[in-house]
Amino acid sequence: MSKPESKTLEQPDRQWWKEAVVYQIYPRSFNDSDGDGIGDLGGIIEKVDYLDALGVDAVWLCPVYESPQADNGYDISDYRSIHDTYGDLDDWRDLLDALHDRDIRLIMDLVVNHTSDEHEWFQQSRRREGEFEDYYIWRDGRSADDADYDTADGPTDEVAPNNWEAAFGGPAWTYDVERGQWYLHLFDEKQPDLNWRNPTVRDSVYEMMNWWLSQGIDGFRMDVINLISKTEGLPDGDAESGQTGAKHFMNGPKVHDYLQEMHQEVLTDDSLLTVGEAPGAHVDDAQQYVGSDGDGLSMVFQFEHVTFDHDGDKWDAGDWSLVEFKEILSKWQNGLADDGWNSIYLNNHDQPRMVSRFGDDGAYRTESAKLLATLTHTLQGTPFVYQGEELGMTNAEFASTEELRDVEALNFVEAAIEAGDAATYDDVRDAIEYVGRDNARTPMQWDDAEHAGFTDGEPWIDCNSNYETVNVARARANEDSVWHYYRDLIELREEHDVLVYGEFSLLCPEDPAVFAYTRTLGEEHGLVVLNFEPEPVEFEVPADVTLDGLELAIANTEVPTTPRPSFELGPYEARVYLTS
Ligand code: GLC
Repeated sequence: MSKPESKTLEQPDRQWWKEAVVYQIYPRSFNDSDGDGIGDLGGIIEKVDYLDALGVDAVWLCPVYESPQADNGYDISDYRSIHDTYGDLDDWRDLLDALHDRDIRLIMDLVVNHTSDEHEWFQQSRRREGEFEDYYIWRDGRSADDADYDTADGPTDEVAPNNWEAAFGGPAWTYDVERGQWYLHLFDEKQPDLNWRNPTVRDSVYEMMNWWLSQGIDGFRMDVINLISKTEGLPDGDAESGQTGAKHFMNGPKVHDYLQEMHQEVLTDDSLLTVGEAPGAHVDDAQQYVGSDGDGLSMVFQFEHVTFDHDGDKWDAGDWSLVEFKEILSKWQNGLADDGWNSIYLNNHDQPRMVSRFGDDGAYRTESAKLLATLTHTLQGTPFVYQGEELGMTNAEFASTEELRDVEALNFVEAAIEAGDAATYDDVRDAIEYVGRDNARTPMQWDDAEHAGFTDGEPWIDCNSNYETVNVARARANEDSVWHYYRDLIELREEHDVLVYGEFSLLCPEDPAVFAYTRTLGEEHGLVVLNFEPEPVEFEVPADVTLDGLELAIANTEVPTTPRPSFELGPYEARVYLTS
């Protein structure tokens, strides 16, 4: 099956992936075709026409590989086969063909900071077999007399090799009785970190990537790719700030060398979309990942705009200010404007639903979902739409720990109770319902049938109770729905180069309610004005912004077709004016 054609390119730095809108699928929760309560490849194939109708250009498919599912597939036990609950390689090929037939490209998730502990590499490594002996990061423990930090169980009088913490809580080391050593895992203990210092490990990863490319895929989303290099000697981290040890593994000393090598070995075709997940990356790190003299990634997922209110601990997330949010996003817009490219996202499978986080999931759910969509489709960068976002899906309720599925959330609750920070689940429930990852993982809401039309069986995680009103069938039948607005935005971005390539300039940075900016590309220009408040506000267009020739391109409410120098914006009102 042939791949989608690129549009004729006039500008030298045009790329299909800059012009594309990418749709993220979390397969477990998207659509179940066989009634076992878990989404699958057959279920996605049933919905390719849906994706086509929405107008997206590419799909990022979260992991579907063989896996014990300790972290819903981010713990891979065989990179070249499909988890049997999802189907098999033939189903996967059918999906690829079905997408390509509709000119939709496919981006696969690449998880190579770690594997599952059930991967045969790890099994052989723990037995010290041949070349596998050094495939992972093994160390002897430290004497309990020289170190005092929380550690996992190991031999008496021995503690873990250093004080690093795992992202999902607890120590980053687990003692393996069979090998008689500790192994590093920056995530769950079932996700041992690969040893990227070992060239054989790197070769095996590149070979696997080349194999996937030979299957006809169009790129990779690279899971926590900026964590693959750890400081030599694995020194203790600084206990005060966030995840202990982070400075020794985020954007580590050799990460750029490894990515450049990967580029040479695998990614020389610059029509591939590569997006590296990069927690803790600043703009200057990103310039190295994506700049023209850098590592050759198309873009990164940065985290500043989704962690700025965390205060070092995501479970403490609280109030956020629009002024700071604008400052962060414009810093990224400007920092990568001349050399590099941004990814634009406000939620994904690890983040709460954006309308609950940055909008209003109550009275103004529809307006604020459209407002946020206007932002993501009119900043400079490639918009990533997370499944259900196009309906304005919201955070869910989790009344007890029995309703939780996410390993991170479950660990957090257990640790909070163990440490005495919480007496019962009820004490942490608000935090779970505000930032927990299960919020994003409730089933996609297709219609108002039982289980939202997601499955004929019992879903692996409960549906959000609002599925009778928030669902695809209803949204498609209503011209004013969030879904139709997404379709219009996607089309608008396709028609106006200024929205893709135009220069971004923030207006009124100190305005606490309005996010406003211009976009400029030669003679074309645009003005975007977004009221983030549930009340009406006055907005005055700065005098140096020319309104000549601007006409309304899209808005989430009825508004005049030409802009005036000052106007009132309704609650969560969004307007985009463009030169026609
Ligand atoms: C990334 C994934 C997340 C996963 C983690 C470990 O952050 O997006 O879902 O748990 O890496 O692989």
